[in-house]
Amino acid sequence: MARMRKKRNLIPRTEACSEHFFDDPTLNKGKWREACGMPEAKELYVEIGCGKGLFSENMAKKYPDVCYVAIEREPSCCLLAMEKATRENLKNLFFIRGDATNLLEFFGAEEVDRIYINFCDPWTRQNKPKRRLTYRAFLDMYRQVLKKGAQIHFKTDNDALFDFSLEEFTASGWETTCVTRDLHHSEWDEENIRTEFESKYAEQGIPIKRCVAVMGEKPESRE
Ligand SMILES: C[S@@+](CC[C@H](N)C(=O)[O-])C[C@H]1O[C@@H](n2cnc3c(N)ncnc32)[C@H](O)[C@@H]1O
Repeated sequence: MARMRKKRNLIPRTEACSEHFFDDPTLNKGKWREACGMPEAKELYVEIGCGKGLFSENMAKKYPDVCYVAIEREPSCCLLAMEKATRENLKNLFFIRGDATNLLEFFGAEEVDRIYINFCDPWTRQNKPKRRLTYRAFLDMYRQVLKKGAQIHFKTDNDALFDFSLEEFTASGWETTCVTRDLHHSEWDEENIRTEFESKYAEQGIPIKRCVAVMGEKPESRE
């Protein structure tokens, strides 16, 4: 993916989004609902790699009672997403400008109810499977911050990444359900919320792959 040019006035523009942003998100570990002013929120959803934030914005609108935290490591993308949330005055949407590899510094044990991963980098050309956000080491991290039996919702345009991810989920003790290799022509399309990349791929006629992984026991052989 082409790297976004650094945004001018990054600091003042970020400050203008202070309702949706925390200087040090690690201070919220274990108490995100309170920090976000939503102590009554039953659910906390996390999106990893939200890009410019279209999906998180529409999710936050659709589920106003859910506390929604989106992680994005690219500062320029994160800024655009935060500015949208600010313009739309979305009271339940918050951002972490940081890397998902540090997830355990951001969230406490069993604090998160659901994780969304949409169109993450496939790392197939460079053949670096360990960098994929569905690699087993990432799944083990997600397991720690998610409640028992929680779900990961995963979408991609990339067949190789999808096959790899299904295998990783199964090997790590996650049951895959709602599996489709053509989401937009499936029974689930009606409730589907599209991301920026999803719309781009759909315009190119690329079928969208999607699965929901439900947390089961971690296999002993994988300890
Ligand atoms: C291909 S884009 C997809 C953006 C958006 N999810 C969509 O579907 O339109 C992948 C995004 O994930 C972000 N990303 C990749 N790895 C990440 C990581 N380890 N932590 C946080 N963000 C990450 C990238 O910066 C990029 O914005």
